[in-house]
Amino acid sequence: MKASERFVWAIETLEVDPSDEILEIGCGHGVAVSLVCERLGPRGRITAIDRSEKMIAVARQRNRVHVESGRAVLAAVALEDVELGKRRFDKVFAFNVAPFWLMPKEALQVVRAHLAPRGAVYVFWDARRQSASDLGSRLSERLLLGGFSIDRVLVKKLKPVPAVCVIGRV
Ligand SMILES: C[S@@+](CC[C@H](N)C(=O)[O-])C[C@H]1O[C@@H](n2cnc3c(N)ncnc32)[C@H](O)[C@@H]1O
Repeated sequence: MKASERFVWAIETLEVDPSDEILEIGCGHGVAVSLVCERLGPRGRITAIDRSEKMIAVARQRNRVHVESGRAVLAAVALEDVELGKRRFDKVFAFNVAPFWLMPKEALQVVRAHLAPRGAVYVFWDARRQSASDLGSRLSERLLLGGFSIDRVLVKKLKPVPAVCVIGRV
């Protein structure tokens, strides 16, 4: 199945290194997980969570080869309840995931606690309800609220709507 353009762009934006430890929040059907796994080497891994057991079941099925090899770890758990112990991630990303809009301080606190030194958070959103430029500003405000500095704001013209990515660093 061909991945939609927004996911292809998102994974290009992540510039996955084969040895990256990546965390995706709100992975839905697991399309991005598949694209990340194609770029990871034997030492790299993606952990993907979603609060919906149904979505995780679909994502597991889609990525069964990667789950079996240990390259993808999928868990049905909400961001606010996830227990990641001492794990640190090089890149944390989310695409259209409500807590980053509705409770950014709380969501980004969890991200900060598990970001590796020099790690980055990538918050992607479809500009469906507002202009890409407004969306970029409002997402940036949220990252700042969560204690991140803004590294870059990217806009990608896509059909039917553009997508925005705000990259934050601690
Ligand atoms: C709009 S969908 C986006 C799914 C996928 N990222 C995409 O772009 O197609 C939002 C997803 O985030 C999940 N989600 C929402 N709030 C969450 C939370 N607090 N913790 C983990 N997952 C959450 C939902 O279950 C849903 O699968």
